[in-house]
Amino acid sequence: MLPSLVFFSLLASFSAVFAATAEQWRTRSIYQIITDRYALEPGAVVNECVISQQTWCGGNWNAIRKRLDYIQDAGFTAIWISPVNQNYQGPRSAYGDPYHGYWIADISQLNEKFGTAEDLKALSDEVHRRGMYLMVDVVINNVMSTSLTPDYSKYMFKDAKYYHPYCAVDFSNTTSEQQCWLGDKQVPLPDVNTENSEVKSKYSDWISDLVKTYSIDGLRIDAAKHVRKDFWPAFAKSAGVFCMGEVFDPVVANVADWQGPDALDSVLNYPLYNALLAAFALPGPQNMSALMDYIEQSKKTFKDTTVLGNFLENQDVARWHNLSVDPQSLYNAMTYTFLSDGVPVVYYGLEQGFSGNADPYNREPLWSSNYTNTTSYQLMTTLNKLRTFMINTTDWATQKPNVLASNKNGIAFQKGEVVSILTNIGSPAQNLTNIAFQSPWPQGTVTIDVIGCRQFVVASAGYVEVEYTKGGVPVVLIPSTLQGSGLCGTTMEGLHTGTVPGQTVAQSSALLSAMVAWPLSLLLMVSLGWRW
Ligand SMILES: *[C@@H]1O[C@H](CO)[C@@H](O)[C@H](O)[C@H]1NC(C)=O
Ligand SMILES: *[C@@H]1O[C@H](CO)[C@@H](O)[C@H](O)[C@H]1NC(C)=O
Ligand SMILES: *[C@@H]1O[C@H](CO)[C@@H](O)[C@H](O)[C@H]1NC(C)=O
Ligand SMILES: *[C@@H]1O[C@H](CO)[C@@H](O)[C@H](O)[C@H]1NC(C)=O
Ligand SMILES: *[C@@H]1O[C@H](CO)[C@@H](O)[C@H](O)[C@H]1NC(C)=O
Ligand SMILES: *[C@@H]1O[C@H](CO)[C@@H](O)[C@H](O)[C@H]1NC(C)=O
Ligand SMILES: *[C@@H]1O[C@H](CO)[C@@H](O)[C@H](O)[C@H]1NC(C)=O
Repeated sequence: MLPSLVFFSLLASFSAVFAATAEQWRTRSIYQIITDRYALEPGAVVNECVISQQTWCGGNWNAIRKRLDYIQDAGFTAIWISPVNQNYQGPRSAYGDPYHGYWIADISQLNEKFGTAEDLKALSDEVHRRGMYLMVDVVINNVMSTSLTPDYSKYMFKDAKYYHPYCAVDFSNTTSEQQCWLGDKQVPLPDVNTENSEVKSKYSDWISDLVKTYSIDGLRIDAAKHVRKDFWPAFAKSAGVFCMGEVFDPVVANVADWQGPDALDSVLNYPLYNALLAAFALPGPQNMSALMDYIEQSKKTFKDTTVLGNFLENQDVARWHNLSVDPQSLYNAMTYTFLSDGVPVVYYGLEQGFSGNADPYNREPLWSSNYTNTTSYQLMTTLNKLRTFMINTTDWATQKPNVLASNKNGIAFQKGEVVSILTNIGSPAQNLTNIAFQSPWPQGTVTIDVIGCRQFVVASAGYVEVEYTKGGVPVVLIPSTLQGSGLCGTTMEGLHTGTVPGQTVAQSSALLSAMVAWPLSLLLMVSLGWRW
């Protein structure tokens, strides 16, 4: 894409009221919110917020609107909020209250627990005033019940003929996955018959109206693979906005099948999530081959990797910190989700080191963190700033990454003028082997590590040495001529130049100091030479 086109699409995206396309979303960075758990309105009284008991905690749309600075200050350019439609309103179910928003009753109504139509419009307006996008989660596949014989008059589709008859899902049978009822006998999720032409037509009208009424810019589609694939193109066309589907599956081929003109614009990148866990979690298999394998397969199989949703956490999987205790593992894996291809999606609370395991423990109220400016928050801010800067000034959003080298403890990849060097050694030191690869830059090029604010000069034969003297921190290099990003000082001046090309410079950022501040007792000296 030419710079003028980049400029044009940015202008278009900042002035758009709704109907943002995949091209526009590709440039964005998403912060995912559980509406009930993100923020309380000032002065709100919290009666009960017991995570293990799946109670309401009291968050709503107004509270999100009043706390958008926290998200925007970290450089995010979109929010994804919980489903906005009416949920089950009966007595507490076997699995608690529908605080998460996924237990749809009448989808033609809003969820009054989260606010009024005016409140949702006010949130949408404020998001747009800030130049950000609004993504809304939608549940199309099913409604919720507390019985296998629901009273259908409570739903938008008011007759049994609009639903598939009850059967328990057999996950080895695709038809069963798409027609039987998710959930269990205590909380069954009656499966809407999306083959029915009245259902198709009513859902089309409903989504078109919802998107227009609240100026929604994009949809996250719950349980997308539980609806037959050929339902989606017409639905997405009626929505008229970017659609990102949930296809909960670690296998690239299975997930890739749901992206494209015969399905959806985008899917959440579960295969990448699994590969990053395998490669970076500590303790873990430290299996860098799993990431290399993912990269190879994804290049061949996905229709467009640049619009996939890259995440490390969400409401359905354990917090990263529950699975991996070393903070360097998070910093390195997070850097991959921002600087490789795809749209970064950060689940609220990742930046606060929340550590609950799977549902319901991974849905902590964010206010318990005091919205602290943590090291992870600062790292995301830096990564968002660099990513948006590259997208603003080059065709970076559509460029594909290229692996320069990898070994069992690290990977170096280039995307445009950004080279990321990531490692899974974690905080303690380990002996590592060197790897060699072709440099994208000529000898003498001065590069800046935008995380550590250190300078690296490319030596003869393209050699650059990255020393892990304080543990396995991610290193992200850009040529120092790429000025104006505001990272490490706008002009990049004032940094020392190494007298010996290839040596790092002692000066470093406060962020780097914070990143290596844990756990000091485990730190040993280590040096890893990355040849390029
Ligand atoms: C798959 O599931 C469908 C729907 O429940 C069922 O009709 C069909 O018999 C199943 N096929 C097999 C091979 O079990
Ligand atoms: C590492 O990942 C590769 C590629 O996915 C896989 O074949 C291999 O079995 C994995 N090794 C371990 C130890 O998990
Ligand atoms: C994982 O989550 C569970 C439940 O929230 C908790 O008991 C456990 O301590 C967590 N583990 C870690 C390593 O944080
Ligand atoms: C948040 O602030 C409260 C009140 O000052 C304090 O008791 C609590 O420890 C703080 N929590 C965190 C995670 O900073
Ligand atoms: C977080 O702290 C860093 C380092 O002190 C600072 O540069 C940044 O502005 C802070 N961010 C916010 C939102 O306060
Ligand atoms: C990217 O461009 C937008 C729109 O011109 C601008 O508001 C934003 O500050 C730029 N961000 C960076 C990091 O360059
Ligand atoms: C690294 O390797 C050297 C030589 O094999 C050995 O002497 C040293 O103890 C090793 N250090 C660590 C931290 O494993």
